[in-house]
Amino acid sequence: MKIIMLGAPGAGKGTQAKRIAEKYSIPHISTGDIFRANIKNGTDLGKKAKEYMDKGALVPDELTCDLVMDRIQQDDCKNGFVLDGFPRTIPQAEALDAALGKIGEKMDFAVDVDVPDENIVNRMGGRRACLSCGATYHVVFNPTKEEGVCDACGAKTVLRDDDKPETVQNRLKVYHEQTQPLIDYYKKQDILKSVDGTQPMDAVFDAIVGILGA
Ligand code: AP5
Ligand code: MG
Ligand code: ZN
Repeated sequence: MKIIMLGAPGAGKGTQAKRIAEKYSIPHISTGDIFRANIKNGTDLGKKAKEYMDKGALVPDELTCDLVMDRIQQDDCKNGFVLDGFPRTIPQAEALDAALGKIGEKMDFAVDVDVPDENIVNRMGGRRACLSCGATYHVVFNPTKEEGVCDACGAKTVLRDDDKPETVQNRLKVYHEQTQPLIDYYKKQDILKSVDGTQPMDAVFDAIVGILGA
């Protein structure tokens, strides 16, 4: 099963993608997590990506597409994968379709986690992220057992650099301009499914399982 998670920054793509990956035993591929891991490790890709991410801008397609195309051709992706944060532009979506088309495959579902901008700004300030394993928490909605410590791997959790309110505003603007058009793109392909992302996390997950099948 090959799934794309769509949705604004903070809609809950990562939260749900992790659970989907577990339930259906497919890898969770988050371009944001890949970039953050590269930043943490001080790689060239990380240095380039950071310039854009800190402003809330998109990392250029040429740095993003090849990375994902390589990743989805690895062995563990044979039975499918869940993409989180990719594609984010029409050219990225076209590159993905072209790469899959070459091997006679296509995406199965594009799940849009729908949350209005007003709710997003409130969520972001409370988010805490583990930069070691990619787990995401929220100080109110999904707290760690011990404050500041990742439940999954024991590393420190942090407020992401791009979760400052002014950067969040810019990320939302970029989302509406460059990523929202993908909703129509996948509607035309007849694989778009929408879920109400303002519900509690478990209810959102149940809705997604209802779409993907148990
Ligand atoms: P990325 O890491 O993908 O960030 P994003 O899209 O802005 O999305 P987020 O990770 O902020 O939100 P999410 O939807 O995953 O929500 P989460 O589950 O954490 O990208 C970061 C940057 O990298 C981009 O700005 C760009 O620069 C670059 N980049 C990445 N991919 C790229 C690409 N393809 N092309 C170009 N550039 C790219 O949830 C948010 C919070 O809410 C959490 O605290 C969570 O616990 C809480 N929460 C989740 N669900 C609920 C719920 N139902 N109720 C209450 N709280 C909830
Ligand atoms: Mg995320
Ligand atoms: Zn962790």
